[in-house]
Amino acid sequence: MRTQVGIIGAGPAGLMLARLLRLQGIDSVIIENRSEDYIYNRIRAGLMEHWTADLLTEVGVGARMAREGLPHWGINIGINGELHRLDFKRLIGKRVTIYGQQEVVKDLVERRRADGGDLLFEVDNVTVHELTSERPKIRFTHDGKDQAIDCDFVAGCDGFHGVCRPSIPDGVVRVFEREYPFGWLGILSESPPPDHELIYSYTDRGFALYTMRSMSLARLYLQCDPDEDIANWPDARIWEELHKRLGGARTLREGKILQKGITPMRSFVAEPMQYGRLLLAGDSAHIVPPTGAKGMNLAFSDVLFMSRALAAFYKSRRSDLLEGYSATCLRRVWKAQRFSWWMTQIMHRFPEETAFDHRRQLAELDYLTGSAAASAALAEQYAGLPLD
Ligand code: FAD
Ligand code: DHB
Repeated sequence: MRTQVGIIGAGPAGLMLARLLRLQGIDSVIIENRSEDYIYNRIRAGLMEHWTADLLTEVGVGARMAREGLPHWGINIGINGELHRLDFKRLIGKRVTIYGQQEVVKDLVERRRADGGDLLFEVDNVTVHELTSERPKIRFTHDGKDQAIDCDFVAGCDGFHGVCRPSIPDGVVRVFEREYPFGWLGILSESPPPDHELIYSYTDRGFALYTMRSMSLARLYLQCDPDEDIANWPDARIWEELHKRLGGARTLREGKILQKGITPMRSFVAEPMQYGRLLLAGDSAHIVPPTGAKGMNLAFSDVLFMSRALAAFYKSRRSDLLEGYSATCLRRVWKAQRFSWWMTQIMHRFPEETAFDHRRQLAELDYLTGSAAASAALAEQYAGLPLD
C-alpha cells in the first residue's frame, strides 16, 4: 500500500486527523489493532471544550452531537456539601458540551466511510521503520497476511500503550511524569442527574464527581486508593459512599449500575513529540489526570496542529510548521498539564497531607468560589484556552 500519511490508531486523534487531512486533499490510511465493536464500547471521556464541539461541527461530524449532546454553561463546585456554581456564560461567554467519546468515534468512523478512506480494524504486529528517511514504512499483519504501507509521514495516534513512542531510539525522548496517590472508581448508572450540570465535590472523605451521558444516564466517580480492587466495592458500598460525598445539597437517585472500573491517575509528557517523519499525537505523547477533562481535547488540538503543518508541507513545500510541530503542541499540552494537576490537587485528599495543607486547600476552594477573577481563571482553562 502507498499513502501520504499512515495513521496508527483509530481513537479520537487518528480519526479526526484523517478527516482534517481529507479536507485538505491529503490521503491517509488508518490501521487499528482493536475491533470496531470494541472501540464503540470503550467508555472514556465525555466533555468537550467550546472549540472542540465547534470543530466537530466545522468538519462535518457535528449533526448527532447537536441533537444529543448537552451544552453546559457552568459547573458546580461542592465544598463539604455546599454547592457553588461557576457561571461560565457570565464569566467567559463559553460553554462545554457533554457528548461521549465513543459517540464521537462512531460519528468519525461513519464520516471516514462516507469519505471512502481506508480504515482497517483488527490488525496485528504493527511496527514502524525508516522513520528518518523520506519514505517511512508501517508493517503489520491483517487477516493473517503480512502487509506494508509506504508513507511520507507516520502519525502515531496509538494511545499511551501503543508502539510508536517506544519505537523512537533511546536517548531521543525525555519523559516527564508524576503519579498520584489515588485513583478514580467510575460507574455508569441508569439514573437521572441530581443537577443538570456537573458537580466536582471536595469532601473531607475524598473527592467525588457527578457527570452524565444523558438526562437518564449518570456517570459518577469516587476518589479511591490507587491499587483498590473493584471486587471490594459492591454496588451498595459505591452508592453509600456517593451519598456521603455528593448527597448534601442535591438528592442523588440510585439506578442500575451498567459498568464500573478503576482508573489510575497520572501526568505524563514525552518530549519531543516527533522523530524524523514520525509525529505523535494525543495519549501516545501525553496523559493527564482526568480531573480537568483535558485528554480528548488535547488529542484534537494536536491533530489540528499536525494537519496544518502537513497542509503547509504539501501545498507550499513549507517545512517550518512541521519542524515546529512538537513545540507548538507542547505549549498547549503543558498548560493543560498544569491545569489538570492544579484541579487534581485542589479537589482530592492526599494521604501525606498535613493539617496546614488541609486548611490551605479549604482556603483555596473558598477563594476559587468567592472570587470572580479566580472563577474566571478556572472557567477559561476548563472551557479551553485559545488555540493560537
Ligand atoms: P486513544 O483513544 O487511546 O486511541 C488510540 C487507539 O490506538 C486505540 O483505539 C487503540 O486501540 C489503538 N492502538 C493502540 N496500539 C495500537 C497498535 N499497536 N496498532 C494499532 N492501533 C493501536 N479526556 C477528556 O478530554 N475528557 C474526559 O472527560 C476524559 N475522561 C476519561 C475517563 C477515562 C476513564 C479515561 C481512561 C480517559 C478519559 N479521558 C478524558 C482521556 C481520553 O479518553 C483520552 O485522552 C483520549 O482517548 C485520547 O485519544 P487518542 O486518540 O490519543 O488515544
Ligand atoms: C467527565 C470526566 C471527567 O474526568 C471530567 O473531569 C468531566 C467529565 C465525563 O466522563 O463526563
